Amino acid sequence: MLNILVLHGPNLNLLGKREPGVYGSMTLNEIDKLLEQEARSLQVKVSIQQSNHEGVLVDAIHAMLGQHQGLLINAGAYTHTSVAIRDAIAAVNLPAVEVHLSNIYRREEFRHHSFIAPVAIGQISGFGSESYRLGLQALVNYLNKN
Ligand code: DQA
Repeated sequence: MLNILVLHGPNLNLLGKREPGVYGSMTLNEIDKLLEQEARSLQVKVSIQQSNHEGVLVDAIHAMLGQHQGLLINAGAYTHTSVAIRDAIAAVNLPAVEVHLSNIYRREEFRHHSFIAPVAIGQISGFGSESYRLGLQALVNYLNKN
């Protein structure tokens, strides 16, 4: 069975309380439940982690080798700053899908650039918690075809 790593980056632990007008009222725990439900219907396994620390996210990507076949990642603000996370994804050379709750292109200019996008298969941005579900579907679809 395919095993997908789901990584949530900084501040996403505060979902539900954090800027609900931008990010919605769903908590991270509720998003994880939604992903587990979607994983069951896609017949894949998901391992889910959240960290506020760049190096912890880098270590989690390295630890995919031999364990996971694909990565679903919302790197939060590290999307716009982290060469290290981008390099880790390139290093393990496993398919990754980038997701965002908000549409990063409708927001401040500094959110328009992603360091992750060039090493991802694709990006889903702007659909709230549905971005995660759509991202998981796209990743599993890709893995089943390749
Ligand atoms: C985010 C968008 C980022 O710009 C922001 O820093 C986040 C959340 C999103 O899911 O919309 O923390 O990745």
